Amino acid sequence: AGARAGARRRRGCGVVRGQVSIASTAHMGEREPVGVIGTGYVGLVTAAGFAELGSDVTCIDIDVDKIDRLNAGEIPIYEPGLDQLIAKNRERMRFSTNLADALEAARLLFVAVGTPPTYSGDADLSAVHAVVDAMPASDKHALVMKSTVPVGTGAAIKRILAEQGKGGISYVSCPEFLREGSAVHDFLHPDRVVVGDDGDWAGDAVVELYAPLEAPLVRTDIASAEMVKLASNAFLATKISFINEIANVCELTGADVTEVARGMGLDERIGPKFLQAGLGFGGSCFPKDVTALKQLAGNTGYHFQLLNAVIEVNELQKRRVISKLQKHLGTLVGKRIGLLGLAFKPNTDDMREATSLVLSARLQAAGAKVAAYDPVAEEEARKLITGVEFAPGALEVAEDADAVVLVTEWDEFKNLDWNEVARAMKGKLVIDGRNALDPEAVRAAGLVYEGIGRS
Ligand code: UDX
Repeated sequence: AGARAGARRRRGCGVVRGQVSIASTAHMGEREPVGVIGTGYVGLVTAAGFAELGSDVTCIDIDVDKIDRLNAGEIPIYEPGLDQLIAKNRERMRFSTNLADALEAARLLFVAVGTPPTYSGDADLSAVHAVVDAMPASDKHALVMKSTVPVGTGAAIKRILAEQGKGGISYVSCPEFLREGSAVHDFLHPDRVVVGDDGDWAGDAVVELYAPLEAPLVRTDIASAEMVKLASNAFLATKISFINEIANVCELTGADVTEVARGMGLDERIGPKFLQAGLGFGGSCFPKDVTALKQLAGNTGYHFQLLNAVIEVNELQKRRVISKLQKHLGTLVGKRIGLLGLAFKPNTDDMREATSLVLSARLQAAGAKVAAYDPVAEEEARKLITGVEFAPGALEVAEDADAVVLVTEWDEFKNLDWNEVARAMKGKLVIDGRNALDPEAVRAAGLVYEGIGRS
């Protein structure tokens, strides 16, 4: 009750629509308690983050096993720093399968359930709707949407709540921009906080929760907040596909894409980030969100031509290694290819939409034998990849290999002893699918180096 009174006192503290910085007015010990529904990457990090800021957090998940593990102090995902953050704030965090526990403890219920793509390319909102359906009528609670949803979802949910006689429940869109692998840092140091709401108490309460982070605030309507998330991810994906196409043209024209990106990135209007050419983007967000935005536009009668190209370039980019291998090795039938890294990017065990999934299947279809090693993602990879020999380390991947391909730029691969790799390999070819290696160090070991867009 004290926390609620505190939150009420602090409401409306000079927050205006548009982009403003919000100053911290919160004090430890009187922070608004929150509920978080869904304990995946976004949910767990959000929960631990708010606990770190001083809130009591009740985490809800329908997966009994996951909740049991969390109650036993086990963190079900690999995310650097998350286990320490949860351990540090353990007394402020509760884990339960019972939504009523969160409803009792908090007014704000952050929804962080999965919204995977369906066969049609639309987002599967069944988990979101299950939460909406499970809510009892209330004029004290708000659903705060963290899951990435199509524009118009907030309006639809409000309509459904009203139809179910639960129109007293408030709704806020609060999209999450954290990256896997640096999620804890990203939560605590966001570039911006976006809050889309109808101007009732709930939007103010969410703004207050984020106040200690002193991030620029974009307070806006619900549909615009939903679009900020989709448009941001689609833009970043476009940037990656753009630099990948530049890389492909560099290969044909004798330029080096890493030099080109350096030169481009110094232009403040372009910026140096997300200009790393490679084997394409993966993960749980970019492929899904680009498709969802394209689909959303299509459903409303607009043909989003640019995004078609972004998606197609990315699919082709994942396969470019095959032609590079064939250029050096001829047919791949019977050739032994070693993959360094399987996760969609370093510092995560997430295999969703990872390039390695496409690559390992294409290589095997071309007749190659594939060995692979990932420092963290092997367990996840085994669930999705068949026919691949999982090796215990990078050198074992190189053993007797005709070629080695860097797929995920884990630090340990950057520091490999290339003389040892050369001794282990049968052939000499190293393909650096992320332009992460030092070409000179690789060549000094007598190996043949080929990157992406570095002719
Ligand atoms: C992304 C967004 O960055 C984040 O804001 C959103 O909330 C979720 O989606 P994430 O999927 O964790 O985060 O990974 P990110 O670090 O953005 O990388 C996405 C993919 O793009 C990776 O496969 C990465 O290898 C690739 N990438 C990234 C490039 O190929 N080149 C680049 O320059 C940057």
